[in-house]
Amino acid sequence: MTEGTQLIRGLEGVVAAQTKLCDLDGAHGRLAYGGYDIADLAKQATFEEVCYLLWRGELPTRGQYDQLVMSLVAARELPKPVVDALRLAPKAADPNRTFQAAIALLGAFDPDADDNSPAANHRKAVRLTAQLATLVAATHRIRNGAEPLAPALDLSHAANFLYMLTGTRAGGAAVKAFDASLTLYAEHELNASTFTTRVITSTNSDMHSAVAGGHGALKGPLHGGAGEAVMRTLMEIGEVATVDAFAEKALAEKRRLMGFGHRVYTAGDPRAAILKGMAEEACRQSGQFKWYEMAVKLNERIHAAKKLIPNVDFYSAPLFYSLGIPVEQFTPVIAMSRIAGWTANIIEQHADNRLIRPRGDYTGPKRRAFTPMADRGQTGHVDTRR
Ligand code: CMC
Repeated sequence: MTEGTQLIRGLEGVVAAQTKLCDLDGAHGRLAYGGYDIADLAKQATFEEVCYLLWRGELPTRGQYDQLVMSLVAARELPKPVVDALRLAPKAADPNRTFQAAIALLGAFDPDADDNSPAANHRKAVRLTAQLATLVAATHRIRNGAEPLAPALDLSHAANFLYMLTGTRAGGAAVKAFDASLTLYAEHELNASTFTTRVITSTNSDMHSAVAGGHGALKGPLHGGAGEAVMRTLMEIGEVATVDAFAEKALAEKRRLMGFGHRVYTAGDPRAAILKGMAEEACRQSGQFKWYEMAVKLNERIHAAKKLIPNVDFYSAPLFYSLGIPVEQFTPVIAMSRIAGWTANIIEQHADNRLIRPRGDYTGPKRRAFTPMADRGQTGHVDTRR
């Protein structure tokens, strides 16, 4: 690189956008959307209210709320060809792949697909938020040989999702816990997937393309895929009595411990603290308290040994599991929440866009003369291990 600037690995600490959406105070472990503390929103607001806040910058009045709820309910159905496309995926395929492909395909059926105006983007944000919930449930049912269920129009976003997933109407406590977890996952500044949506948006590409790309980033185990990995770790441990032995071995092997650590939070992830309480309650209610106990014990052991903090994905794992969400659907479920933040960031990026185009620091060979193929020798093989 000729223009001399410093290489910042992983873009740590780099400020890449101004935002009014989310105030992440890593040093004090605080998080607020549009000025409202995450704890207040999780306790007192519905996910639909949080969507409105992120998209419009203010909490809705009763009239605005009712209108948004009506629009979300009206957008729940998926186009039939998208449902048919879900049936083409191998049953054993990672549902994240089917989900991501279906998001891109939804763009082919959206009347505003190529319109990046604020009005069109708000319409698409509503449609995508409603459709992604239906998509997660439909993907799950189809890969398990069942027919997708039609959305229940009288239920809230959270309640309808649990119904479409399981076929039964969940109780009030389970719906409240799930609704609050949707709020806690809804937005988180320039995390990897949201940054991806902004990079794609910065080329003046469209919302569906940005969201599909965002999910590709989210599913990685260092990001949203960590929740699934946490649950698989707890399953690997199996019992509360074996947590200590697992922790000893994992620490000795210097394993990367899923659900621990964070790039920005140094004083703890405030979402994890709230989710911990919700997981305790949900695990108790569902008669699967051991997952909560194991998580607490593992957290204590890892914190004592390495001072690592549990992040949002640590306690959401036992919570989601005890709510009946299949482990392989954890990341799509996070996406059906983060869609609120992704779309809000896409709208914000369009409003003040400049192509995102950083530089690479070249470390390859110096300039050299081209060698024609005839002069490169006859033998040699490709080292396929590299
Ligand atoms: N297990 C073991 N060691 C860890 C962990 C962990 N989970 N996280 C950080 N460390 C250690 C790491 O080994 C390194 O130690 P050293 O300096 O001795 O080499 C030090 O802490 C710094 O780690 P890093 O990987 O350079 O930190 P980062 O800011 O690049 O990574 C992270 C942040 C979240 C990717 C990382 O903590 C991690 O891999 N955690 C596990 C995966 C996870 O839970 N991801 C979800 C993140 S929060 C929700 C979301 O973003 O979706």
